[in-house]
Amino acid sequence: MRSFETALHLVYLAAATCFVLGLHMMNSPASARRGNLLSAGGMAAAVLAALVAVVRHGAGTGVGAVVLVAGLAVGGLGGLYAARSVQMTAMPQLVSLFNAVGGGAAALLAINDALHAGSHGLGRSIAVAVGLDVIIGSVTFTGSLVAAGKLQGIVPGKPIVFPGSRVVNAVLVATFLTGAGLLVADQSNRLALAMLALAALAFGVTMVLPIGGADMPVVISLLNAFTGTAVAMAGFVIGNTVLIIAGALVGASGGILTKLMADAMNRSIMNIIVGGFGTGDGGPATVVAGGVQVREVAVDDVAIQLAYASKVIIVPGYGLAAAQAQHEVAELAQLLERRGIEVSYGIHPVAGRMPGHMNVLLAEANVPYPLLKEMEEINPEFGRTDVALVVGANDVTNPAARRSGTAISGMPILDVDHAKSVIVIKRSMGHGYAGIDNELYTAPNTGMFFADAKAGLAGLTAAVKTLVG
Ligand code: TAP
Repeated sequence: MRSFETALHLVYLAAATCFVLGLHMMNSPASARRGNLLSAGGMAAAVLAALVAVVRHGAGTGVGAVVLVAGLAVGGLGGLYAARSVQMTAMPQLVSLFNAVGGGAAALLAINDALHAGSHGLGRSIAVAVGLDVIIGSVTFTGSLVAAGKLQGIVPGKPIVFPGSRVVNAVLVATFLTGAGLLVADQSNRLALAMLALAALAFGVTMVLPIGGADMPVVISLLNAFTGTAVAMAGFVIGNTVLIIAGALVGASGGILTKLMADAMNRSIMNIIVGGFGTGDGGPATVVAGGVQVREVAVDDVAIQLAYASKVIIVPGYGLAAAQAQHEVAELAQLLERRGIEVSYGIHPVAGRMPGHMNVLLAEANVPYPLLKEMEEINPEFGRTDVALVVGANDVTNPAARRSGTAISGMPILDVDHAKSVIVIKRSMGHGYAGIDNELYTAPNTGMFFADAKAGLAGLTAAVKTLVG
């Protein structure tokens, strides 16, 4: 028996080591894939070890075994299908659903433990962990479902604010804190458990509803950190070290990512949660903004500018992902490079719809990683650039961010307007995620090349080839 427990803990320790090493390998694109596999391997070993332990303890027999196998089949096959079939553009929604499942599972685990604690109770310290687990897990469950719904368009992306919402939030927080306090005092108090779970579930909804679509990535990252924390708490409740370590890693990395994303938008996390910014509507914009007509350019004009430039910076955005035009942009870049033109890509930290979206997309088209320059690195280069080619990017290039009073004020942007010439490829004057006009489009050095990114880039490549023979 003792040797089995020792072996079990050794497997858990090995799994935790795989998580840490895997996470470290994700620091570099060259090793990220292997890091992912290593972490997944660690998780598979941990799940297998936990299953063996459950069967040995007799809980995995009879109805318990059927439930276990059914749970594994539904969860495993569902996860596999979702991961394989999801479009890159819908990845944030999927992450959000995974957060909901993680938070919900952690909360259920704690509730189950509290309900089956027996006459001796949970013990004070475990009751505190149960209380925190149920609060964080329940808030994450409903909050993540609302966030996924907003991104999927099932729930309106606009901030939904109702009169007295702050009072309602305060009452909900007071209710779940009181419930937790009562549970710690009397661990057989089921009313307290129900009170804290229901108030936390309701708070998840009321917390996320007033947050606008443009802030959803930060919220999802925050909820991801919550999921990790809830899972770590669940580890304390059932005394499982691998859950504690995995949860702590997710909690810490999710927290750091949330901070980095909030910094990239020049907002505080608190401002995002109580703010209400961005509609996520992407509605139509005016062709004439501020009384200035935009300048439309034809494919041949753009081809001439590109073919005779000495330095070109490509700025990809969500439209590149939506059009799946990564291969076309890489082909055009290679053609220009073969002509001796210096080509690089300017990557904004929140371009697209998820962290690293542009990097993943361009890696798929084998764009060499050193060509991808982060915002701080590329911004000083726009001043000596002949053509900034903006492909399906909008908000991340909008100079309106530099002044106050706009929905994106304070968000650092790519300084594409500093280039000698700016070419914007997009289909119309449609808005980006923040739902506001882009002042770049009416600048005198900007030419609008209205096209779907994939077709437009293919047309440009053909035109450059024709031009240079
Ligand atoms: P956006 O500002 O959302 O603009 C994307 C533009 O792409 C749209 O204006 C659209 O214009 C164009 N577009 C759509 N489909 C296209 C196609 N097939 N071909 C060509 N163009 C197409 O994108 P961005 O500049 O990448 O900025 C990202 C925004 O999303 C920020 O506001 C950010 O805060 C938010 N956000 C970011 C994340 C993360 S973590 N990256 C997650 C969620 C939200 P047309 O309709 O006229 O073509």
